[in-house]
Amino acid sequence: MTIRHFLRDDDLSPAEQAEVLELAAAMKKDRFGYRPFEGPRTVAVLFDKPSARTRISFHTGIGELGGLPLVVDNVSVLMGRGEPTADLARVLDRQVAAIVWRTSGQELIDEMAAHSRVPVVNALTDAFHPCQILADLQTVNERLGRTAGFTLTYLGDGANNMAHSYLLGGATAGLHVRIAAPAGYQPDPVILDQAAAIAAKSGGSVVALTDPVAAVDGAHVVATDTWVSMGQDGKEERVAALMPYQVNAELLRHAAPDAIVLHCLPAYRGNEITEEVLEGPRSVVWDQAENRLHAQKALLHWLATHADPIRSPEGA
Ligand code: CP
Ligand code: NVA
Repeated sequence: MTIRHFLRDDDLSPAEQAEVLELAAAMKKDRFGYRPFEGPRTVAVLFDKPSARTRISFHTGIGELGGLPLVVDNVSVLMGRGEPTADLARVLDRQVAAIVWRTSGQELIDEMAAHSRVPVVNALTDAFHPCQILADLQTVNERLGRTAGFTLTYLGDGANNMAHSYLLGGATAGLHVRIAAPAGYQPDPVILDQAAAIAAKSGGSVVALTDPVAAVDGAHVVATDTWVSMGQDGKEERVAALMPYQVNAELLRHAAPDAIVLHCLPAYRGNEITEEVLEGPRSVVWDQAENRLHAQKALLHWLATHADPIRSPEGA
């Protein structure tokens, strides 16, 4: 059996993503009914960057799945002696059921996965935030009944992890994804092309625009994210460049009348989103934050059922 990892959104095919989201909805209804980590098995959850939602939801979810979370907030405790990622992977994979990691470079998590015989999950890198997009898609499903065919507009830093994950994960879900960002903040053209190829098969589409009003026109889902991601500097310059992309009541007038607003949080009120919109009737951000729990439990359950070298050594 081949180990499956979740390092970027397109590691799940459209059918697999739908399966995980269906499981997430079922697990939300029967919160304590799924115990793939009974034993208990341990799941490592490692952080190189700050986190509230990801930390809370993985810790809680692994416990609810019958497992034990090994949460390490400062990875230098594990890796502060210059040890290669490949070595940590081979120490962890003989003991834990899965490895969840928030780090900077995508190449680091790729290296962990290349040397791990248990699933590795991207809990945010500079390039992608795929667990967040699963939760966002679950929220869209709950509010709109499905994802395919709806338009999701993301405004702000089009070159960050959320923008890239909306492109790949949204295209996988059959959404029409529009990214609105100024020059200098446009998505990586390679990711845009990869998302376009996925969309061509799923029935969705992707486009990068500079005009925020045109991008929001008729959108069913409006999403944004911080303008200054963890590890980035140049805050004043970024805020000045991105202010025309603020999600506010005036901009939302151009969206579909019942459009919902997503924000992965933490939110910087008055920058990428106004207080009025964040706390207003279209905002679904608290459901989104809760759905991290259900979507990630479903993902871990799905990955765990695809391979377990400790329980089934012949599959290693
Ligand atoms: N949305 C999100 O990933 O939140 P944290 O950075 O707090 O984990
Ligand atoms: N783009 C943000 C997402 C935080 C959840 C960051 O990387 O800081």
